[in-house]
Amino acid sequence: MKAEIEKQKEYIQQVKDINKNKKPKYIIQTFGCQLNENDSEKLSGMVEEMGYKRTEDAKEADLAIFNTCCVRENAEDKLFGKIGELKKVRETRGTIIAIGGCMMQEKHMTDKIQESYPYVDIIFGTHTLHKIPENIHKILEKRKKVKDVIDIDGEVYEGIPIKRENNIKASVTIMYGCNNFCSYCIVPYVRGRERSRHPKDILEEVEELAKGGYKEITLLGQNVNSYLVSENWKEAGKQYKGINSFATLLKEINKIQGIERIRFVSPHPKDFTDDVIEAIAESDKVCKLIHLPLQSGSTNMLKIMNRKYSKESYLELVTKMKSKIKNLTLSTDIIVGFAGETEEDFEDTLDIVRKVGFEQVYMFIYSIREGTPGAKMENQIPEEIKHKRFNRLKELVESQIEQNNKKYIGTIQKVLVEGISKNNEKMLTGRTDSNKVVIFEGNKQDINKIIQIKIVSEHMWYLKGEIEDVNR
Ligand code: 5AD
Ligand code: SF4
Repeated sequence: MKAEIEKQKEYIQQVKDINKNKKPKYIIQTFGCQLNENDSEKLSGMVEEMGYKRTEDAKEADLAIFNTCCVRENAEDKLFGKIGELKKVRETRGTIIAIGGCMMQEKHMTDKIQESYPYVDIIFGTHTLHKIPENIHKILEKRKKVKDVIDIDGEVYEGIPIKRENNIKASVTIMYGCNNFCSYCIVPYVRGRERSRHPKDILEEVEELAKGGYKEITLLGQNVNSYLVSENWKEAGKQYKGINSFATLLKEINKIQGIERIRFVSPHPKDFTDDVIEAIAESDKVCKLIHLPLQSGSTNMLKIMNRKYSKESYLELVTKMKSKIKNLTLSTDIIVGFAGETEEDFEDTLDIVRKVGFEQVYMFIYSIREGTPGAKMENQIPEEIKHKRFNRLKELVESQIEQNNKKYIGTIQKVLVEGISKNNEKMLTGRTDSNKVVIFEGNKQDINKIIQIKIVSEHMWYLKGEIEDVNR
């Protein structure tokens, strides 16, 4: 693996030489989740080392990269529109067009691109991202199309250059892939089986971030709390600081000086074992907003979805977590209208939402993913019913958020100050431990610090506050 990255670094150098005196520019567009965003930071890291400078204007791009997603809806049309727009630019500038990410792991998608958009230069998948230097080099040298997609699980590559989007908060991918095969989900087919990074590499990356002044890190994985230290590493005597699980990893990261907040997404309820709950409770830097994807509140639907828990066991888990973790708040993902969902099933979802009182709910209308068991189910729900249910859930969630926001008024919150508010340059913006946006009047020296803010009013998607005197 090391040799592979060394080889790519040689290609980086060669492309850099070709680009010398040219001042080439690149544009990158990312669709989908935080894992994709983190992948795009690696793509940007590699292309910047090859001499490309970032632009947001497609018309002046010499290299255009699309990092695609296929988890929901038809992002296809949006992508095709964007590729279409680039055709003219490519004719005048010779722009290299590269499309990668999850959607490119689907054969019907790569077929369609090759057929309808033959001018696309590079198609790469989720397991071949690290080879973008070699692929760009091929295009520059030979101008022959490259399709670089593999179906087998990718390896874990370390040492890929990275260009981060933010200088306060950073993402660190700790594991790749998913073994769960929830029946609605395409992820296991496009991201392959679970592979965890070696704890040493993770800790070194976080230490590096701490040195770089980062205050908050988010650990990422399709199933982040399934993080598992491989038996091979143990056998090879590569045990590192006693880390052998997600819980032990969390505790160790909690010790890193400089990092003040640790978050993680996305976990699976089945992996919230007692040791993980204990590690969250004990680690002062781990934020107490925990994402606990529910998907459905109906035991029957959960079984069909292959989620491995029931309505009752989910609620038991919530009760246990609330009793063990002080100041716990919860967020969740819910899918409305999966195949076979009856009115009673949907009522169960509303019931759980009422009972738990989530801080935030990410709601999705079920969208059929070709190749998953869900796509073959015959009892699909008509779009109209899906939308009606979605709106009912949304109404409930919004009324709960409004109620919940009121609880913040008068409280003192620790806020990590992220910068100047986009809507009002006299105000600063930051986030609470529970990830609520807080807007307040302050001065720029407070950016990248955690300060105490008294909440004075609530506005659905943000809170307004005032700096507490103790900070001064
Ligand atoms: N349709 C709608 N939502 C989906 N999700 C995953 N697959 C689908 C699908 N086919 C949602 C789940 C998951 C989140 C990342 O996306 O709620 O937790
Ligand atoms: Fe998809 Fe389920 Fe895996 Fe999450 S756990 S990525 S929802 S299959």
